[in-house]
Amino acid sequence: MSTPTPADKFSFGLWTVGWQGRDPFGEATRPELDVVEAVHRLAELGAYGLTFHDDDLFGFEATHRDQQISRLQGALADTGLVIPMVTTNLFSHPVFKDGGFTSNDRGVRRFALQKVLRNVELAAELGAKTFVLWGGREGSEYDVAKDVRAALDRYREAMNLLTQFVTDRGYDLRFALEPKPNEPRGDILLPTVGHALAFITSLDRPEMVGLNPEVGHEQMAGLNFVHGIAQALWHGKLFHIDLNGQRSIKYDQDLVFGHGDLMNAFALVDLLETAGYDGPKHFDYKPSRTEDITGVWDSAKANMATYLLLRDRAQAFRADPEVQEALAVAGVAELSQPTLNAGESHDDLIKDTGFDPDQAGERGYGFVRLNQLALEHLTGAR
Ligand code: GCO
Ligand code: MN
Ligand code: MN
Repeated sequence: MSTPTPADKFSFGLWTVGWQGRDPFGEATRPELDVVEAVHRLAELGAYGLTFHDDDLFGFEATHRDQQISRLQGALADTGLVIPMVTTNLFSHPVFKDGGFTSNDRGVRRFALQKVLRNVELAAELGAKTFVLWGGREGSEYDVAKDVRAALDRYREAMNLLTQFVTDRGYDLRFALEPKPNEPRGDILLPTVGHALAFITSLDRPEMVGLNPEVGHEQMAGLNFVHGIAQALWHGKLFHIDLNGQRSIKYDQDLVFGHGDLMNAFALVDLLETAGYDGPKHFDYKPSRTEDITGVWDSAKANMATYLLLRDRAQAFRADPEVQEALAVAGVAELSQPTLNAGESHDDLIKDTGFDPDQAGERGYGFVRLNQLALEHLTGAR
């Protein structure tokens, strides 16, 4: 089994290993985790990056802002860990209960933007290349209480201001929107990869805005994460990714990567590795509330180990001659061939008489056999 190294580009949110296990029904089950400790432990385990929300590092009141930033910088210098991404908390404080960028209250919207501008400044200072925006409170519980079209106008206004700011300051930083269908709001704006992709086309600087899709979030909407990621890649919009595990349509479980839909995780790793995604592999999970601090680090290791296992298994799958033969029977590569011949037009096609639909209808694609081969590689049976 391979061991993680910084070249694998694994990163973790400070709020993930730092989660104390507080949920809507229960108190914290673990003590606070200091950022310096987190950086050292993650570096020892072979991660390359740490990410954080402003409030994770210095709290909403920002009382120890400078001190915490320099403690973080010290730990980075000692370990070589980097900050590839920074994000913002526009969801915990009561001021954001109706949203940040799309709150009905204009004063709140101005405050939210100011908070983000300050944090974008910090992200650039720390050398982050991606700024993630997860709008967990941008949404509603009651349809009559939110003018969704006006909210999208305000969301766009916010994104246009942020990309203007980064351009004016000359920062090397792009934004990544993170879709989620619900939780904590009853319904969240930009609920899926597809909604967010469409929204981005309406922005002033669409090239500066992409996506940070999360495994569990698409699965909470009953969607196929691999399809969503493939489409995001196809649009050139996979700027960042949140890996974790989710078992079906229910609350956001944030399990370890692979501890949900394992076959889909296998296909995801295969896709990321073969499509040439070279951004961070970021784990946004929660070490379960049942775990003590040993369990926290075991779960951090488990995320990386799962990714590497799946990477090995996917490579073995691709290299197997029986799989290649099954792929050929299935016609997987044939889909990459344009449907019309070079120089052929609709006038040629409309007259074509060479195709026998009855005969073509008899074809067996062998998809089940192919999928079983994938399962056998995934389980180590081959
Ligand atoms: C969630 C989200 C968050 C975001 C984070 C980054 O469901 O709670 O996934 O963890 O990823 O806020 O902006
Ligand atoms: Mn989540
Ligand atoms: Mn996330």
